Amino acid sequence: FTTAALPKPDGVSTFEGENYAEFNWDELGFGFVPTDFMYTMKCCDGGEFSQGNLNRYGNIELSPSAGILNYGQGVFEGLKAYRREDERVLLFRPEENAKRLKKGAERMCMPSPTIEQFVNAVKETAIANKRWVPPPGKGSMYIRPLLMGTGNVLGIGPAPEYTFIIYSSPVNSYHNHEGGLNLVVEDKLYRAVTSGTGGVKAVTNYAPIYKAKIDAKAKGYADVVFLDAATGNYIEEGSTSNIFIVKDNIIATPPTNGTILPGITRKSIIEIALDSGYQVTERAVSLEELLDADEVFLTGTAVVLNPIASVTVPYKGIRTEYRTGAETVSQKLYETLTGIQSGRIEDTKGWTV
Ligand code: COI
Repeated sequence: FTTAALPKPDGVSTFEGENYAEFNWDELGFGFVPTDFMYTMKCCDGGEFSQGNLNRYGNIELSPSAGILNYGQGVFEGLKAYRREDERVLLFRPEENAKRLKKGAERMCMPSPTIEQFVNAVKETAIANKRWVPPPGKGSMYIRPLLMGTGNVLGIGPAPEYTFIIYSSPVNSYHNHEGGLNLVVEDKLYRAVTSGTGGVKAVTNYAPIYKAKIDAKAKGYADVVFLDAATGNYIEEGSTSNIFIVKDNIIATPPTNGTILPGITRKSIIEIALDSGYQVTERAVSLEELLDADEVFLTGTAVVLNPIASVTVPYKGIRTEYRTGAETVSQKLYETLTGIQSGRIEDTKGWTV
């Protein structure tokens, strides 16, 4: 791919050869910073997406009766581009995002781009916005593919037209996790129910959990631990991340049985842990086990891997603290994962593109 033929964004006079956008990379957090280009592809002609194209990043026009606006017919993905020391840019497992989007689209009765269309579109978007990929060690460029029903609806039902968009933003840490995060167990609001949409990245999974997260933050916690809606006895996820416990060097995480998002970081951490000789089990993890663990950590594209310093269960009057720091299992897994993602460690798995 080449950016030579692309229209130049407003205010950008040199594009080719310009390595970095003018930006204070030390100030980067996890907020939206617009980049130069976005990718757009439309459907439907017999369920297939047409050839997409890159345009300057900007607002899009939507009919007030678009399916996404009225009934939330949409799914999204998240992945990151990393800059290596030699300036090459790496994507981490984009085919996995393509496959997950496809599954989510099926659940939400939407057509989706092919795996090849998805991966090519992500590559084009990353390359076009390359100057927004932060220097090594200063963060990454978050890439957000978004598939939505943009055709008009009134009665409920799949929209007659779909738009697939990819935009990006440079980001750094999602949580400030120096020393580990303090979490609180949420026992009134639930993230997912059996046979619901918790196992796919539906846009409608996210706004309903704002309340739990905002209330937790107001009390000084970084995030919440959601419990299963059926019994309230088992842990499920954080607000945007999978959860793992470590007890006597054995790692456990809840299974992806429909209420847990099948995280790509989750899957990668499981593989890295197995390769490193740890025993890993995907099984229901009770609240008691969470409180009895040696280590707890969260994983996700946005959060990467965050060690947990404590979990509080207000309705039981319990607060438990966990091991964090350089000698922990989670730190070893984090080093390997981020080493592969950023090109510091040789990728023997073929995960990076
Ligand atoms: C991700 O980790 O990519 C997510 O989807 C989290 C996002 C909602 C901030």
